[in-house]
Amino acid sequence: MTDPIIALDFPSAHEAEAFLSRFQNQKLALKVGMELFYAEGPEFVLRLKEQGHFVFLDLKLHDIPNTVERAMTSLARLGVDLVNVHAAGGKKMMEAALRGLEAGSKTSGMRPKLIAVTQLTSTSEAEMQQEQLIPVPLEESVLHYSKLAEQAGLDGVVCSSLEASAIKQHTRADFLCVTPGIRMSADSSDDQKRVVTPREARDRKASAIVVGRPITRAENPKEAYEEVTKEWNK
Ligand code: C5P
Repeated sequence: MTDPIIALDFPSAHEAEAFLSRFQNQKLALKVGMELFYAEGPEFVLRLKEQGHFVFLDLKLHDIPNTVERAMTSLARLGVDLVNVHAAGGKKMMEAALRGLEAGSKTSGMRPKLIAVTQLTSTSEAEMQQEQLIPVPLEESVLHYSKLAEQAGLDGVVCSSLEASAIKQHTRADFLCVTPGIRMSADSSDDQKRVVTPREARDRKASAIVVGRPITRAENPKEAYEEVTKEWNK
């Protein structure tokens, strides 16, 4: 089982590095999202890789297949471990993303894993039905996109832990379910609508968990990280 992935949701490299300094030289699994990537660019990601961290670059690409393919080639050259796209971009776009990653990792031979966002966890069933005109229950749409991602050859999906068991039942055994929306029981849920503890996530067959504020905003982030890890591995 992989270590919990810490969401480095900071506005600058300076703040992210101040946070990381609490972990001395520990090798961590880190998620860099749009906020930090757009502020600091590829150099910051390259630095994290030089330091030996596992890096999930969470940029959620969604564009025409050719553009996504070429963008993925650039991202693979950064040597990151995990990247993602929106499944709503379609099967051709997802296949193109994989081709791009393969092209960008020819020299290293280490293709980053590719996962798809199905429905954003911020989207309600009513919004999906009324705004996207998808006339099925939310879970059915999530399952449909998961199967589409699998058919396109992707390694897994980002999903709520509450959906992980159902996705696991309908996809191949090693299909990854990477799940955010994690809280220690005593935590507040912030803006996450549906949350589970690390242990519940594991019981619901999540392959990896992404944890942000419960660690980054904790009084003692290192202790919080250790607690999350302990619960996740228990
Ligand atoms: O602070 P918190 O633990 O809620 O952070 C969760 C992280 O996972 C954030 O970086 C958020 O953008 C990301 N995420 C999410 N739901 C998704 C996809 C990503 O919460 N469906």
